[in-house]
Amino acid sequence: MAPRKFLDNMTAQNGIVPVVVVDTAEKKTQSPTLLDADEFRRQSHQVLDLIAEYYDRMGDYPVHPPVTPGFLRNLLPPDAPFRPEPDAFSSALKDVRDIILPGLTHWQSARHMAHFPASSSTIGALGEALTAGINVVPFTWAASPSATELEMLVVYWLGKALHLPKSLLFAGGGGGTLLGTSCEAILCTLVAARDRKLAEIGGNRISDLVVYCSDQTHFAFRKAARIAGILRDHCRAIPTCHDNMFALSPTKLQAAMQADVEAGLVPLFLCATLGTTQTTAVDPIGELCAVTTPHGVWVHVDAAYASSALVCPEFTHVIDGVEAVDSFSMNAHKWLLANNDCCAMWVKKPSALVAALGPEQDLILKDAASEGHNVVDYMDWTMTLTRRFRALKMWLVLRCYASKACVTTSAITSAWPRRSRRWSRPTKGSRW
Ligand SMILES: Cc1ncc(COP(=O)(O)O)c(C=O)c1O
Repeated sequence: MAPRKFLDNMTAQNGIVPVVVVDTAEKKTQSPTLLDADEFRRQSHQVLDLIAEYYDRMGDYPVHPPVTPGFLRNLLPPDAPFRPEPDAFSSALKDVRDIILPGLTHWQSARHMAHFPASSSTIGALGEALTAGINVVPFTWAASPSATELEMLVVYWLGKALHLPKSLLFAGGGGGTLLGTSCEAILCTLVAARDRKLAEIGGNRISDLVVYCSDQTHFAFRKAARIAGILRDHCRAIPTCHDNMFALSPTKLQAAMQADVEAGLVPLFLCATLGTTQTTAVDPIGELCAVTTPHGVWVHVDAAYASSALVCPEFTHVIDGVEAVDSFSMNAHKWLLANNDCCAMWVKKPSALVAALGPEQDLILKDAASEGHNVVDYMDWTMTLTRRFRALKMWLVLRCYASKACVTTSAITSAWPRRSRRWSRPTKGSRW
């Protein structure tokens, strides 16, 4: 559809303020040449060939390179060139091929067993390329309407695909966003919880707040607590044991909270985990919420590692009781075919996030368009102003792989998460 026609239709349907569209010929003379189309095509082919060749040759590399610290410093010049050499891009790509690639740890190698999986797929990689090429900054709705609305849609699709409860989705009064990492998701939700609690008990009582996790919880949580101003010795890492498959015990949590309340402290936040990094332990979400609810504690589920398995209905019992949690986050870049980076976060009450992370005064960037129009200004949901158009990549992955991704995930999970007993459907009676 021609741009003019498309915009006329949009205006008629949605009441969007008309934008003046210049004709193509006129546009050519007005736009600065930011990107030379022919040069871009030529160089893109070089990059695509290099990536394809890298994947072809992946098996030839040792997974971890035989290099010593500082090796690269000796191979590349100490200063950036003052003027570009002729065909600088080709010779830079030669450096990538000959010097940089051999010094990498090859995370996409089938023999890479370290850390955690960093999922990659053709569509995920091309989605990243498309995002970088388009290069918009969707911090408010008006700053990039399609990017904002696609993000709202894709977190809704993803939430439903993972069988999350309606209360965390836009359709149920909650909502989601795409961030870079789980560290950000945990910090943002903790800050929202902190501000909500301080508004209730008084801003001067931050040193009374206590947060809870297990000794298996990712260190991202302790770091977030420090950044959020929680005293270091007010982070209770409750011991787990092998008999419980390293899951957090509600009884121990209850005892810890009771002791804190008796000491005049204020329980604030529980970070439960779905699939701890070391052992894929699963904390019993519903039973933990039964303990935290009377204390008005915000419960976040860190599902960074394992939640992709939730696309399989046979695993959804591991989140029984999740309707009671306040927030949930997962990394689609770990195991759901999205390339780095893509952390999805859902909250039950977006207003708590906006109260903590939105602007304090009417800044020039405040976007009146989003008020009362069922769209959001995502800059108010996170720490950063500049944001990436991650929704495009995630939408492409879900749109193009769809049920195929679920089948792949299902095939992996049937062999994989049995390390934790909770991944098998429980028999009657509590194990805690
Ligand atoms: C369970 C869990 N939580 C949090 C994180 C931190 O994730 P990110 O690197 O996206 O901040 C990880 C990463 O391995 C993880 O496995």
